[in-house]
Amino acid sequence: MKTIEKENKYIAGTYKRFPLEIAGGKGSIAVDSDGKEYIDLASGIAVNTFGYSDPEWTAAVTKQLTTLQHTSNLYYTDPCCTLAEILCTKTGMKKVFFSNSGAEANECAIKAARKYAEKNGKQTTILTLENSFHGRTLTTLAATGQDSFHTDFLPLTEGFCHTPANDIAALKTAFDVYSPCAVMFEIVQGEGGVNPLELEFVKAIEELCRKNDALMIVDEVQTGNGRCGSLYAYMQYGISPDVVTTAKGLGGGLPIGATMLSDKVQDIFTYGSHGSTFGGNPVCCAGAVNIISRITDNLLDGVKERSELIRSMLSGSEGVVSVSGLGLMLGIKTEKPASEIVEKCIKNGVLVITAKDKVRLLPPLNIPLELLEKAVNVIIDACKA
Ligand SMILES: Cc1ncc(COP(=O)(O)O)c(C=O)c1O
Repeated sequence: MKTIEKENKYIAGTYKRFPLEIAGGKGSIAVDSDGKEYIDLASGIAVNTFGYSDPEWTAAVTKQLTTLQHTSNLYYTDPCCTLAEILCTKTGMKKVFFSNSGAEANECAIKAARKYAEKNGKQTTILTLENSFHGRTLTTLAATGQDSFHTDFLPLTEGFCHTPANDIAALKTAFDVYSPCAVMFEIVQGEGGVNPLELEFVKAIEELCRKNDALMIVDEVQTGNGRCGSLYAYMQYGISPDVVTTAKGLGGGLPIGATMLSDKVQDIFTYGSHGSTFGGNPVCCAGAVNIISRITDNLLDGVKERSELIRSMLSGSEGVVSVSGLGLMLGIKTEKPASEIVEKCIKNGVLVITAKDKVRLLPPLNIPLELLEKAVNVIIDACKA
């Protein structure tokens, strides 16, 4: 039976896939089951930080795989402790909880906020932004400020409220009305259409969180790990979050989530208050150690250079309305429907995806400049009338 037939027969129908079977890849090139090559500007939705089968990452993962693939969290293992040490050293955060996905990293942040509220006699409500996306579990769906994701799954977890992005007056009102114990937000709303928050708004969140002793939780699941031109996107906004969550690009293609806790909440979790069978898995952590260690200033300069190249090539191009985003997380507003551009690009050997009404680009952070240029020219062609 062919893959697509097997999928239709045996896989739950949650994904509307493109008619394309990815069979392999090398660097920034994906290869389909007929051997056709594509320049991949989506990276498995911001996951393959250094593309397919990056030699250094593959060596680190393989070495760990043949040493110790798993043990339980009843024992100490080195890779997760080394990864936590690197993350804390690079961010100034104090402790890390490891899980397996972005949704789980956010679940952990939400549990931290609820426990903080309970410990300090505060309201348990958590404030998030309209148009946000925080995951697919019932609790992270409740955190997600988009009604379209909620239909059919009610009742969701209680205790979430939403306020519009970049509206400081509404934010203040939300603090007055709900007295939230935490505010959770993305620096660039990814699934919401690649929209960066305004600096003044983010600063206002920080100020209100400090004034009201509410936790500031930054969801860096998509924006993090060098994607936006700094190790974490919040670093460009000059804020000090209490909790930072990340996943996707951290593992470079292996499932891992991380919830980083600042000094304020470093001891919030105690024995038995949270856990995960696979959380801190040695193979995933060895992959993440390799990824995080390679996000150097030099690499980040390369991210900015690539971002500027894309922006300058698209600027003023026929059918391109505007470009939003940060670093190598970009959204292109086009005159033609984004889905039409994506289909045309795939046909012409370039993988891009959509985010709401935009064409979304999330290329590998080290994509060679010539390949990037070639791919952007395909996008430019697709945007033309
Ligand atoms: C900002 C953000 N948070 C959370 C998630 C959920 O991550 P995962 O699919 O790994 O559970 C995503 C996924 O797109 C995301 O973009």
